[in-house]
Amino acid sequence: MKGVVLAGGLGTRLYPLTHVTNKHLLPVYNKPMIFYPIQTLVNAGITEILIVTSGPHVGDFLGVLKNGKDLGVTHLEYAYQEKPDGGIADALSLAEAFADGDSITVILGDNTTDADISQAARRFKDGAVVFLKKVPDPKRFGVPLFDPKNPKNIIKIEEKPKEPKSDYAVTGIYIYDNKVFEYVRKCDPNFAGRGELEITEVNNYYINEKKLRWEELNGYWSDAGTFDSLFKSSSYWATQKK
Ligand code: TTP
Repeated sequence: MKGVVLAGGLGTRLYPLTHVTNKHLLPVYNKPMIFYPIQTLVNAGITEILIVTSGPHVGDFLGVLKNGKDLGVTHLEYAYQEKPDGGIADALSLAEAFADGDSITVILGDNTTDADISQAARRFKDGAVVFLKKVPDPKRFGVPLFDPKNPKNIIKIEEKPKEPKSDYAVTGIYIYDNKVFEYVRKCDPNFAGRGELEITEVNNYYINEKKLRWEELNGYWSDAGTFDSLFKSSSYWATQKK
């Protein structure tokens, strides 16, 4: 199992902060945002990690992460997403050579959690696993529609639905087998009408093949891509300091 942190995008919702550096290097309490998803991977025993990044401030990553040794990373690679807002699935396409046939645990660079995903990563064999969390504002996320006969099955995932069919968000933590790259190639930039390759489309391909499983994420989880969620995450991690 290898790890991928997606840290591209433009972070426009955090302008003017992201005029001067990449969103994932902004502080969440006392650490750069990207330390948190890296730590989640390392805590799960995943120490070979690829950072996919983009935009005008990519050079800033090296100075902060160096070779990753201080964080417990044994092998750190970087990839550059040419279209900074190409979408999460576009960013993921750059991980194919790094994955080299292996399975991957993927975390969005602005997601922070104290959940332990090590069991899920260890047990993973094939298909895909998504991690769900109950949220007050599911409209902002991919939202699963459960099979009324068997809620262990997700029938489909809707991207930022106006009328969410459940209270759950699909968080930015995923485990995929190597088929993910085949599905990424099938993605249509018009899937959600935003011109981006959407991870929700990738997840729906797995659903169609009956190969998507889900787990509820225990503990704290939030993105930190808006001023409110950045503040919320910083406040949470400030209360956790040892
Ligand atoms: P978003 O928050 O949806 O997009 P963004 O980071 O560009 O921010 P904004 O909407 O404010 O402009 O993306 C969530 C994460 O996904 C982001 O933290 C990094 C990753 N991502 C990429 O790696 N490449 C991309 O093209 C996009 C859109 C996101």
